[in-house]
Amino acid sequence: MTLCEIDPLFSRQRMAAEVIAVLDETAQVKTFVIRPPSRWKGFIEGQHIPVEVEVNGVRMRRFYSISSTQQRYLREGVITITVKHQEHGRVSGFLHERVRTGGILYIGEASGSFTLNHSNPPGDIVFIAAGSGITPIISIIESLGERQPGLAMTLIYYVRNSGQVIFRERLELLSERCHRLNIHLHFTAEEGRASRDQLLRDSPNITASAVYLCGPQLFMQRVIQELKASGSSSPDIRQEHFGGPFLAERTPLPAMDKVTAKVHLQQSGREIESQGGQSLLEIAESHGLQPKFGCRSGVCHECTCVKTGGQVINRLTGELVPEEQEFVQACISIPVGAVTIENW
Ligand code: FES
Repeated sequence: MTLCEIDPLFSRQRMAAEVIAVLDETAQVKTFVIRPPSRWKGFIEGQHIPVEVEVNGVRMRRFYSISSTQQRYLREGVITITVKHQEHGRVSGFLHERVRTGGILYIGEASGSFTLNHSNPPGDIVFIAAGSGITPIISIIESLGERQPGLAMTLIYYVRNSGQVIFRERLELLSERCHRLNIHLHFTAEEGRASRDQLLRDSPNITASAVYLCGPQLFMQRVIQELKASGSSSPDIRQEHFGGPFLAERTPLPAMDKVTAKVHLQQSGREIESQGGQSLLEIAESHGLQPKFGCRSGVCHECTCVKTGGQVINRLTGELVPEEQEFVQACISIPVGAVTIENW
């Protein structure tokens, strides 16, 4: 879940979805079962939708992962989003306290690339989630479990304590139905943080597996470090982060503020020099351009632009994005040296 400013375009495109039910998952987490209108275009498991609400006269939008499957959408015409009540969270507080069965939620089309891209995975598929990071993952696992019940899958799920396990019943049902699904639940209050020994114990072939990772950014950074330290130089990892503004906004990575760049914007014919680790989006905006954006934190992909030359650092991971990668998320891409963007 991330937040963003309201833009008028979204307000024109938003659609009213009926709230069919509101279910308690834990003391702080509720699932909203909603029926999108027929013109809504559908989704792929792992994607998220924007939800707009009006709190004290101010419209606000947040992105929430869909926590149900396409199969259920096709059967019943409903999807679910699962929302943790964040401390001081205005939208999550509004959803928890004010939205009831029979009410309306305004939603947009689904987007996001945290989707299954392995029809023939090299080994197991390993899902690693922390807290609310389970929401897109349960959608992917349930869908796979229905389509390929014999598929080898491992879920490693971290929560603080047993009261914070989201989807407990659905996980139990899944482990009954899918005989090659191994679920490992870890309580960090007792066991501490994720470690390479623990990851290797839960999934001995993890370095040869496709890994889907979702949780708060610090958790994901740690898991990636531990995976790399466990022997794989480039683990096949897809990731989605949850939990508000990313780390780099609060604690810039050491070398990031020294990065300088010269950005060539092909369409508008501009050359812009930047320093101090600004993202492509910040650079463009500071020179009067108004590129499209949504969450500004690497989740929604609305800011994706076409990079035809040069390199960028992914602000979330601190790593260089391969030079040949053309499509980059402008809000989290810090240009290094000479970079060309085709569509601005
Ligand atoms: S604005 Fe959402 S990923 Fe960049």
